[in-house]
Amino acid sequence: MSSGSGDAARYEKRFASRATGIVSSAMRDLMSLSERPEIISLAGGFPNTESFPREVFDDVMARMGSDHLATSLQYGPTEGLSGLREQIVKVMAHEGAVARASDLIVTTGGQQGIDLAVRTFVDPGDVVLAEGPTYPGAVPCFTTYEADVNHVPVDEHGLRTDVLEQKLVELSAAGRTPKLLYTIPNFHNPAGVTMSLERRRQVVELAREHGFMILEDNPYGQVRFEGDPLPSLWELDDGAGWVIYVSTFSKILAPGLRLGWVAAPAPVLRKINLGKQAADLNSSTVTQRFVLEYLRAYDWRDHVDRLNTIYRSRRDAMVSALKREMPADTRWNTPSGGLFVWATLPDYIDTSDLLVEATTRHQVAFVPGSAAFLDGQGANCMRLNFSGSSEDTIAEGVRRIGAAVSDMAELYRAFKVDR
Ligand SMILES: Cc1ncc(COP(=O)(O)O)c(C=O)c1O
Repeated sequence: MSSGSGDAARYEKRFASRATGIVSSAMRDLMSLSERPEIISLAGGFPNTESFPREVFDDVMARMGSDHLATSLQYGPTEGLSGLREQIVKVMAHEGAVARASDLIVTTGGQQGIDLAVRTFVDPGDVVLAEGPTYPGAVPCFTTYEADVNHVPVDEHGLRTDVLEQKLVELSAAGRTPKLLYTIPNFHNPAGVTMSLERRRQVVELAREHGFMILEDNPYGQVRFEGDPLPSLWELDDGAGWVIYVSTFSKILAPGLRLGWVAAPAPVLRKINLGKQAADLNSSTVTQRFVLEYLRAYDWRDHVDRLNTIYRSRRDAMVSALKREMPADTRWNTPSGGLFVWATLPDYIDTSDLLVEATTRHQVAFVPGSAAFLDGQGANCMRLNFSGSSEDTIAEGVRRIGAAVSDMAELYRAFKVDR
């Protein structure tokens, strides 16, 4: 490589403004830490891939090889294989959501669905509403398209619709209407909470009244350990056209497939299709065919049941470890599904500083709360993943975090006394 190619200044002045403003998802940065064997990572949202049955994998690959080799290796339609979209209709129906294959586009993970939806609706400066905290992986989507993100807090019943309503009034007084409300109603990443039925109805009502689109992200609806499913916002909207629904095979099958989908009103779907043509033409036909053959031959719910059993005990292991290891003034929730516990530490603990201490001295990683906000909130919070580690590893990981917190608390007390 020619000399000078590492000179950042040369490129800085040439980057588009949207590239300059992109903020990395802290989660992706932390992903590299998980590759260091000495570090226990409770940071990534890793589903359990070890429990996918080897013989099932071999069988599906053999079916692909013998019956569909050439088409699996070929380009495919941008909207995805029609057979796969028909299967997705059934997957959605399992949660009570009604869609037709023609309402759907297959995407490269749910992540691409979020990106395409934001790209389709958001001009620089447009208001996007998002829960606070929000999915850290959505942060680069919002910053890439230069959205003005306003957070709406959550409590144990999910998004605070009273605050949402108030925010909408304030925005309206300032002559502004949000373009999108991005929400994760089930087993929120990172907050772990689920939106109540009453609030779901209110959100849909408010979208109609104020004229904004709801971007409903539902990767975790089937990752349920307790309780019954609630209707999706897509379902409650009942075809009125205010909801774009995103989901994924990452949590019910495997994230390495990189397959998700979007359901949207026809005019929105056409634009999303055009955006996808620009992004990647079509999602991998190899993995689309894999999932299609798998769904035709096997009952995916058996696999999800297996995963949920594993995750439930891992969740319990994490909650017990937190009770044992964290200072008395730490709070956390016990999620009934999903992959994460959200913990709030005493105010004087900055979890970004704590992460440095935790990774360098205690060999443990988590996602600092500030990664889940675009406005600097969450400094004393952390997201802890329980799906990707064994019970023993979780116990040890939380023990190490507890030790790092004690170190910081000691430092804080020393400084306080000195002053
Ligand atoms: C809330 C949420 N949305 C979207 C995604 C992206 O998932 P995918 O692997 O399908 O791109 C994730 C992954 O962790 C997530 O937690």
